[in-house]
Amino acid sequence: MTPKPARKPLVAGNWKMHNNHFEAIALTQKLAFTLVDKDFSAADIAVLPPFTDLRSVQTLIEGDRLQLLWGAQDVSAHEDGAYTGEVSARMLAKLGCRFVLAGHSERRQYHHEDDALINTKVKRILERAMTPVLCVGEPLEVRQAGGYLELVLEQLDGGLDGLNAAQVAGLVVAYEPVWAIGTGEVATPQDAQEVCHAVRRRISAVHGDATAATARILYGGSVKADNMPAIMAEPDIDGALVGGASLDPGEFVGICRYRDQSTPANQR
Ligand code: 13P
Repeated sequence: MTPKPARKPLVAGNWKMHNNHFEAIALTQKLAFTLVDKDFSAADIAVLPPFTDLRSVQTLIEGDRLQLLWGAQDVSAHEDGAYTGEVSARMLAKLGCRFVLAGHSERRQYHHEDDALINTKVKRILERAMTPVLCVGEPLEVRQAGGYLELVLEQLDGGLDGLNAAQVAGLVVAYEPVWAIGTGEVATPQDAQEVCHAVRRRISAVHGDATAATARILYGGSVKADNMPAIMAEPDIDGALVGGASLDPGEFVGICRYRDQSTPANQR
């Protein structure tokens, strides 16, 4: 399999339901003041604000020619029409979104999203030339019972159903064990690597080694500046989907600069 450096790391901040559009501008500006060219050549860095912030974030980033990327946390499975409260992929593409999350565990849990619905969302995102970030991950009881690889691979197969190799090669999968989200309970780098490796092997089995070598696989769940280097030292982990820590500009920049910390991750 192609060595890891072929894949550009991605650090994406999922702001969840935090920050109104004024606060979003302030946070984006703080990131812009701190991040430098070197940071952007080392990794793709993205923010994923709530829908209501997207236009403000887009205007700021484009106006100031910042290198930050941005995207959305969800999208409607419908193209257009009488779906009150929904936001379509066409609208998100028009706002310059590069990434869109699909199947975040909070959507699966609180909005009962299943793999078939998530698969439709992935297709909507691809139709509009944006990059899906398919989120997978097991709840605590499944981890404890031991069936986590099976569940994650089922979520992966369901989410990617019907996609061709070129589509899969360009997308992002985020492994986020539910028990590690917002709990401070970070998965060990070895736990995260085991699942990310299994995801890559499954992509390879379905779409071939070249596709698996290109798709980016992220880890998410209580990522902080101090645990990021060890996570990034694992061969199948290409970046992080960051929740709480992405709301703190200093912490988020620290995560993006994981190479600067003195750990084996510096060698990548
Ligand atoms: P935390 O980093 O707050 O654990 O959240 C992870 C997450 O859900 C990112 O999508």
